[in-house]
Amino acid sequence: MMNIRCETLLDYPAIAEVNTLAFQGETEAKLIKKIRSSDRYIPELSLVVEIESKVIAHILYSYIDLVDKETLPVLGLAPLAVHPEFQKQGIGSTLVKASLEIADTRGEAIVIILGHPAFYTRFGFQPSINYQIESPFPVPDEFFMAKTLSSYDKQYQGKVVYPPAFNGV
Ligand SMILES: CC(C)(COP(=O)(O)OP(=O)(O)OC[C@H]1O[C@@H](n2cnc3c(N)ncnc32)[C@H](O)[C@@H]1OP(=O)(O)O)[C@@H](O)C(=O)NCCC(=O)NCCS
Repeated sequence: MMNIRCETLLDYPAIAEVNTLAFQGETEAKLIKKIRSSDRYIPELSLVVEIESKVIAHILYSYIDLVDKETLPVLGLAPLAVHPEFQKQGIGSTLVKASLEIADTRGEAIVIILGHPAFYTRFGFQPSINYQIESPFPVPDEFFMAKTLSSYDKQYQGKVVYPPAFNGV
């Protein structure tokens, strides 16, 4: 039986381990730590999947900026990790769908992701440029994606700016 819930303090070591194993390095675990101690952290959108009380997957959304005439906070999805022994069983997909529903219910307008289009387009992500949203990185358009939620309107456009927690990622 798989359970999705918010992270608690007790989960921090297990979340770091899942990320280190999934990404084969500590960059993402460090990013999570930096986001948690920043003002962009959203406790309700740091979710774990547990099976038999063991954390086997984690997803984190935090606020990043969308800058045009004004600056709007929007959700950045990063990172998402499934323990290698549990990958390709639908767990990552289930976690993305469940978390997007929570984000929608909170009234968030849009989610930004730098990720693999083959995975994220299945949840309705599109190249962000389709919404006049520009990436801060020189990446091919299809890797920098956005998914609009119920509260989206056309004021959500401009250039994405990542907060200092993301420096060095
Ligand atoms: C990417 C990840 C989160 C997906 O979770 P998962 O539980 O394995 O995914 P699911 O089982 O729900 O879906 C797997 C599908 O996504 C595809 N997929 C997974 N990772 C992919 C990748 N990097 N590129 C392209 N497709 C990918 C699989 O081929 C599979 O496709 P299928 O359903 O047609 O067979 C997980 O594999 C992981 O933690 N990978 C290492 C860390 C990482 O790269 N995170 C992504 C950050 S953007």
